[in-house]
Amino acid sequence: MYPTDSVSAAHGIHSYTAKLIPFIPRYLVQKYSCQNDIVLDPFCGSGTTLLEARLKSRNAVGIDINPLAVLISESKTKSPDLDELSLAIQSVLKDIVEGDGRLQVDFPNIDYWFSKEAQDELSRIKFCVEKSKDNFSCDVYKFLLVSFSSIIRKSSYADPRMAKTYKSKVVLRRINSGWKPTPIAYFQEAVTKNFDRIQELAEATDGKSSLVRVFHGDAKQTSSILKNNGVEEIDLVLTSPPYINAQDYFRSYKLELWWLGLATPEEVRHLNRQAVGTERIGGVDCDCSRKGDGKLLRSLLGKIGDIDKRKSRIVFNYFESLRSILNDFNNVLKQGGFLCLVTGNNTICGTNIPTYKILMREAEKRGFELVEMLNDEIRNRSLPPGRKHKGGIIREEWITVFQKTERWNGS
Ligand SMILES: C[S@@+](CC[C@H](N)C(=O)[O-])C[C@H]1O[C@@H](n2cnc3c(N)ncnc32)[C@H](O)[C@@H]1O
Repeated sequence: MYPTDSVSAAHGIHSYTAKLIPFIPRYLVQKYSCQNDIVLDPFCGSGTTLLEARLKSRNAVGIDINPLAVLISESKTKSPDLDELSLAIQSVLKDIVEGDGRLQVDFPNIDYWFSKEAQDELSRIKFCVEKSKDNFSCDVYKFLLVSFSSIIRKSSYADPRMAKTYKSKVVLRRINSGWKPTPIAYFQEAVTKNFDRIQELAEATDGKSSLVRVFHGDAKQTSSILKNNGVEEIDLVLTSPPYINAQDYFRSYKLELWWLGLATPEEVRHLNRQAVGTERIGGVDCDCSRKGDGKLLRSLLGKIGDIDKRKSRIVFNYFESLRSILNDFNNVLKQGGFLCLVTGNNTICGTNIPTYKILMREAEKRGFELVEMLNDEIRNRSLPPGRKHKGGIIREEWITVFQKTERWNGS
């Protein structure tokens, strides 16, 4: 279904949960935008859409609430000078091995997640990466920082196969059998591999001009973020919103956020409350079954609410957030522009939620016309396994493409 030409470039710079398969944005960017157009992904995550836009000579704008996502997106779409990058890598690696500087961090339960030896090696790497800021460009520094981030999970006792930060029985068995993480060796390997990826990106984009900008912020503020940063009308919105309560990005990436100093534990809690689909909610006693907009949503909320009122409120909040974000898409998209949504259906409390159907109805109410619809089975997007009957089990995803046909002045 999707084109398989083109390079993998920098997609592998850092893992990220629920990353899009690059072929999806590659196909959609090619079909629904032209060279030099502006493509927006307001839930940009690790920047798959932004990178694919760049590879096709489109300008791209990304927004994400997770500061780690912003760093990954920026790093994978920039092309630092390769000579400078190579020099920086050599210099930082030498400094880590020969120097004795350390930048120790502290956060809750650090000794539960990292051995003393791993903490020592990580603090040596962190010291040298931070020092590089004084001697090299910002793009080079971000490359080193994202490479550092990419080895944190591997250096910890958290199971690298799980999206959630979790010390599993498998990991406990490994620890008991004498396994010891080696962060400096992991970092050496990461910067070498990531250098090759950036080199591949530079070759793939050679002679192509495009601008990628990434903002840390809340997608619910899309219009004002774009306006405050002087971004003109958007030609294509292409995004994969978070799934309802299936993934807690902040819990998944707390070790990376803390080691990098991108957010304190308090800030992480605050950002988590702003995330679309968050489980951190108040007002659990409120009955949402009569509140949802539309018959389908109301009946789903009623069914879920009979089993678990809290879950019904989470689902209600999720669609309320997306409704307000759809209004913003309408404001920022130019007339005739396209909106591509990649959404997964969830099963919550045994009730299947056809997210794409509910959003399709909302989009059509706002003057968007459906022009294409595709359906795919989710095989491997680093999503967590289903959480018994209570979690958000996701099995298939839908790609719906709309065209903006008229100004919508409702609310
Ligand atoms: C399904 S992931 C996107 C993955 C991305 N397409 C990729 O390929 O990496 C959803 C993203 O939405 C972000 N997110 C959640 N709530 C948000 C909000 N209110 N504003 C902006 N981003 C948000 C999460 O941090 C996460 O990165």
